[in-house]
Amino acid sequence: MKNKKNLTSVFSLFSTGVTIITNGTSKNEYFGCTVNSFTSLSLDPPQFLFCLGNDNGNLKSFKVKSHVNVNFLSKAQENLSNKFAGELTKRWKGVSFSLAKNKVPFFNKSLGLIESYVEKKVKSGDHTIVICRVTNFEIFNPKKPLIYYKSKYQSI
Ligand SMILES: Cc1cc2nc3c(=O)[nH]c(=O)nc-3n(C[C@H](O)[C@H](O)[C@H](O)COP(=O)(O)O)c2cc1C
Repeated sequence: MKNKKNLTSVFSLFSTGVTIITNGTSKNEYFGCTVNSFTSLSLDPPQFLFCLGNDNGNLKSFKVKSHVNVNFLSKAQENLSNKFAGELTKRWKGVSFSLAKNKVPFFNKSLGLIESYVEKKVKSGDHTIVICRVTNFEIFNPKKPLIYYKSKYQSI
C-alpha cells in the first residue's frame, strides 16, 4: 500500500457536494461541522449516512435518537463551509441561522435541508459511520451547488 497522502489524493478524485451537519437543540449545545462524506443510503426506510473522524470533539453528541440536520451548501456558502471546518469556538459567531421543526439550527440560504435522527453508529478504522433516519426535508431556492474536488472548492 502506498502512503496515506497518496490515498488522500486518490480519494479526492471523487467530487462531492458539501454539507454542514448540525445538532443540538439548545443554544449552549449547538454544533455544526462541514462534511462531504454525506451519502444517501435508503429510500425505504429513508436513510442517509455520513462519516466523522473518531477524534472529532463532538462525535459523542451524535447519540442514538438525537436530532441531526443536513444543510446542502450552495456556491455562495464557501465562507460558511470554511467557518464550520475551522475553530470550534468561532463557528457560530456572526452566523445567521433558523431553527427547524426539530429545534436544531439550519441555514435557510442553503440548497435544501434534511431533518433526521441518529439511528446507528458504526466505528470503522479512524472514522465512525453515522446512519440517520429522515423525518422531514425541504428544498429551498435553486442555486449553484458547492462542489469539493481535489481538496478544492468548485462549482458547476
Ligand atoms: C469540504 C470539507 C469536507 C469535510 N468533510 C468531513 C467529513 O466528511 N468528515 C469529517 O470528520 N470531517 C470533515 N471535514 C473536516 C471537518 O469539517 C473539521 O474541520 C474537522 O473534523 C475538525 O472538527 P472538530 O473541530 O469539530 O473536531 C471536512 C472539511 C472540509 C473543508
